[in-house]
Amino acid sequence: MSEYNDLDMKKWKEYEEINTDSLWIIKKRDNTGTHSGDYHGNFVPQIPRQLMLRYTKKGDYILDPFLGSGTTLIEANRMGRNGIGIELQKEVLENTKNKLILEKDDNTKMFIKVGDSENVNINKILQKCKIEKVQFVIFHPPYWDIIKFSEDKRDLSNSKTLEIFLEKMSKIIDNTCKYLEKDRYCAVVIGDKYQNGEIIPIGFKVMNLFLEKNFKMKAIIVKNFEETKGKFNQKAIWRYRALANDFYIFKHEYIMVFKKIK
Ligand SMILES: C[S@@+](CC[C@H](N)C(=O)[O-])C[C@H]1O[C@@H](n2cnc3c(N)ncnc32)[C@H](O)[C@@H]1O
Repeated sequence: MSEYNDLDMKKWKEYEEINTDSLWIIKKRDNTGTHSGDYHGNFVPQIPRQLMLRYTKKGDYILDPFLGSGTTLIEANRMGRNGIGIELQKEVLENTKNKLILEKDDNTKMFIKVGDSENVNINKILQKCKIEKVQFVIFHPPYWDIIKFSEDKRDLSNSKTLEIFLEKMSKIIDNTCKYLEKDRYCAVVIGDKYQNGEIIPIGFKVMNLFLEKNFKMKAIIVKNFEETKGKFNQKAIWRYRALANDFYIFKHEYIMVFKKIK
């Protein structure tokens, strides 16, 4: 067994479910149990599942500073991992809590809190859980202002400029990853956007934040996505716009994996 997952390499042929390629084509979201695609801007459960299979062990603590509809914690619970989730919006967290209650079993712990991940007191949460460190952090922030999640000024999707978004994101990485155990992993799921006819490479800008800190880059994975709700049933018009206005329609996002080295 490795130090950071439960894989037994004597049984490697049995792990067919685990992706080892850097291109993830996930055709259909897992909608089992309380998983659902209803929260605009959520990710498919297969993303946290793949990451936790590869980078965590049973009993580990997983921290999600952008909890949203709770996809990570539902999946963590199913996989025998403990989960801590932070979400800025109280109403969103209330809904998520109701879902988590339905999924929760006695073998795992879950702790959720309303707050701004930039300055929420993680240490206090860890004390309540009687732990000092977490073993994996999964970041699924707003892709800057592509989807506006709330009216709250502290919401990353309300950042007035890319610089402010990156500054806040950097502080969130610091506030959370100081509690990530050394030699363990974290991952960020992020996409890019067009603005005034040019690409804003949000993904690579965020990647650089990690590289300026104490992390080693372990993976850049490209994942497909199908029509978002906003573009549903509008294939033809988007194709026309792309051809007429010199852009490509985004069909991918990034999953970047980092290892904490200090
Ligand atoms: C992309 S969504 C995450 C979705 C989640 N992975 C899921 O599957 O439901 C980003 C979430 O971060 C929240 N958020 C934005 N700024 C935040 C901040 N400063 N602190 C904590 N949460 C924040 C938003 O309200 C939103 O729910």
